[in-house]
Amino acid sequence: MHIKTSVPIIAIDGPSGSGKGTVAAQVATRLGWYYLDSGSLYRLTALAASVQNIGFEEEDKVANIAKNLDVRFEGQSILLAGEEVTEKIRTEAVGEGASVVSKLPSVRQALLQRQRDFAFGLGLVADGRDMGSEVFPEAGLKVYLTASVAERANRRYKQLLSKGMNPDYNDIFDGIAKRDERDMNRSLAPLIQTHDARLLDTTNCSVEEAVQKVLDWWKEVNIRA
Ligand code: DC
Repeated sequence: MHIKTSVPIIAIDGPSGSGKGTVAAQVATRLGWYYLDSGSLYRLTALAASVQNIGFEEEDKVANIAKNLDVRFEGQSILLAGEEVTEKIRTEAVGEGASVVSKLPSVRQALLQRQRDFAFGLGLVADGRDMGSEVFPEAGLKVYLTASVAERANRRYKQLLSKGMNPDYNDIFDGIAKRDERDMNRSLAPLIQTHDARLLDTTNCSVEEAVQKVLDWWKEVNIRA
């Protein structure tokens, strides 16, 4: 059962690589609120399943993993069963796995209350695919944050180059397009811009401009309330 929370919530949804995580984390810092990176829970589930040699199609077993995830968020670090996995869950392979397990209804159900439990303290900024539509439908502000596939591929390409890797732009582009297709067309909680979400296209805007826009919208929502 979902008990409505009095904690103010900003829900930021959008496709892979749109920069929603960076924007959401900075908005949370500026407001002094908590931040929930919901995608990390799906990534942790996929990682834990792989480590235990459980196939992503074994729905009951994967859901059981999601339900019992022994995860701790400590500042910027993420610990799974006591082991630091902050970097490990950001690989393309784990992201791909997360996209696959996130289609499983019982995995989504297992993670639902877990995500809602983050709504405490002064406020919560939550990012993902279904924050505004399913997890926090009562959020005071809903943002759909996106950027063109080419721009998102470009950002990822530069990020990997800066890490000393030798990425292939076309592979990255295709991977992002494939992930969009899966996240937007699954039957359960697909990525959509809900009618009450404001569109923020960051194709031609900086992180700082995007953060400021969300903060301005939040002020506006509260003046009207
Ligand atoms: O935001 P991300 O790239 O870390 O998310 C990884 C995958 O998890 C994404 O491809 C779809 C899934 N996901 C989801 O289904 N619902 C969410 N709220 C967040 C992520």
